[in-house]
Amino acid sequence: MRITKGILLAGGSGSRLHPITLAASKQLLPVYDKPMVYYPLSALMLAGIRNILVISTPEDLPQFRRLLGSGERLGVTFAYAEQPRPDGIAQAFRIGAEWLASEPTALALGDNLIHADHLSELLRAAASRAEGATVFAYQVRDPERYGVVSFDPAGRALEIIEKPSAPRSNWAVTGLYFYDHKVSDRAERLAPSARGELEITDLNRIYLEEGTLHVERLSRGCAWLDAGTPDSLLQAATFVQTIQSRQGMLVGCPEEVAFRMGYIDARHLRTEARKFGKTELGRVLNELADVAGT
Ligand code: G1P
Repeated sequence: MRITKGILLAGGSGSRLHPITLAASKQLLPVYDKPMVYYPLSALMLAGIRNILVISTPEDLPQFRRLLGSGERLGVTFAYAEQPRPDGIAQAFRIGAEWLASEPTALALGDNLIHADHLSELLRAAASRAEGATVFAYQVRDPERYGVVSFDPAGRALEIIEKPSAPRSNWAVTGLYFYDHKVSDRAERLAPSARGELEITDLNRIYLEEGTLHVERLSRGCAWLDAGTPDSLLQAATFVQTIQSRQGMLVGCPEEVAFRMGYIDARHLRTEARKFGKTELGRVLNELADVAGT
């Protein structure tokens, strides 16, 4: 069955960005010209997902509602749910259990940015896989900060470990996941890890052991950034600025994705662009609507 639902997880205390995040949600901080959450939201939409559950802390959830609303203006539907305590990423499936209704789903972490050639093809392929789970792996210099997957000589995923002190590979698992309908049940049966969290890596390991975890290795031409520390936040902003100003193309813009995916028409896009006033973003979106010739 095609995945049509997606969870956007924007919880946590953002402690690695204190004091910035003492009074502001990490996932609403700017990454160059857009709020951080726009980037993973764009990825979900590019995967063809139009039914999205936004999960955040009770304090921050109203701000997400204010930013995203019902979703109508993007041709999608947003639902909202609170994560009262940061008890781990896999808790999202418990919080969203009723909304999910045992259907397959994608999960995007609100601080992850993926930019790649053919990204929409990759994402749509993951969303149309009927069975198992799909994760994306990316080579990094500091794998110990992430979930790490290692491979056998034939390239098959061998094991997956959360923040290993001695990583067996430098392939980090990115914060964009696709799961079949078994995910809710499996998340329900997970036990908290030693650090007291429901680990997404433990969930992925269940699929790995069952032989149904598809690990897509992102090539060197792709960019995967998480914006959870001052350095990575700045790097992400600089990256977006560089691509956009050099190529004149937008990175992580849900309005643009909605238009390209046919969720909204050119007139609607122009209305959205108007809301951005005289910004460069507004200009590019207007131009896009003009090229479409309406
Ligand atoms: C989380 C996951 C980790 C994954 C990472 C991607 O880590 O636990 O497996 O590699 O997101 O951003 P966190 O950012 O919560 O430390």
